[in-house]
Amino acid sequence: MQWMLKIMLFMLILLGIGCESKPSDATAEPGTTQLSSATPVPAEFQKGEAAFNINCARCHGGSGRGTDQGPTFLNRVYHPNHHGDQAFYRAAMQGVRAHHWKFGDMPPVEGMTKDLMVEVISYIRWLQRKAGIY
Ligand code: HEC
Repeated sequence: MQWMLKIMLFMLILLGIGCESKPSDATAEPGTTQLSSATPVPAEFQKGEAAFNINCARCHGGSGRGTDQGPTFLNRVYHPNHHGDQAFYRAAMQGVRAHHWKFGDMPPVEGMTKDLMVEVISYIRWLQRKAGIY
């Protein structure tokens, strides 16, 4: 049995290295990872989830998977190092000029407050961690 464990460990390490060395592609879809829909949302992120579903999901999709109106957040381009929390505040408050994709501009989202955005961002970061973005 032990050799099996060793092989599994080895494969896990290989997978880990594979992820790290993946080129961070800013424009193409292949960096996008899918989140298993079976994962329940922990209580601490449910307020953010609700606000996200009301205000962002129309374009960014349920669980941030994207729609034909806006990009998914489960893409390395939205890794916290590329788009920090400030980019999320700015997007919600001021809107976004289309620059990464071909969806068009994002209008400012009415009624968003900084407090609500804190919740929304922690929910999105949770989705990203679940999807292995970081
Ligand atoms: C009407 C559709 C729409 C809605 C609603 C919307 N977005 Fe967007 N969002 C977009 C599009 C389209 C882009 C891509 C712009 C581009 O080409 O980079 C985008 C981009 C972004 C970006 C990337 C900003 C950057 O600096 O590149 C963030 C962050 C973001 N949206 C957050 C949100 C959040 C948070 C909400 C909800 C509070 C939200 N969006 C609601 C359409 C939308």
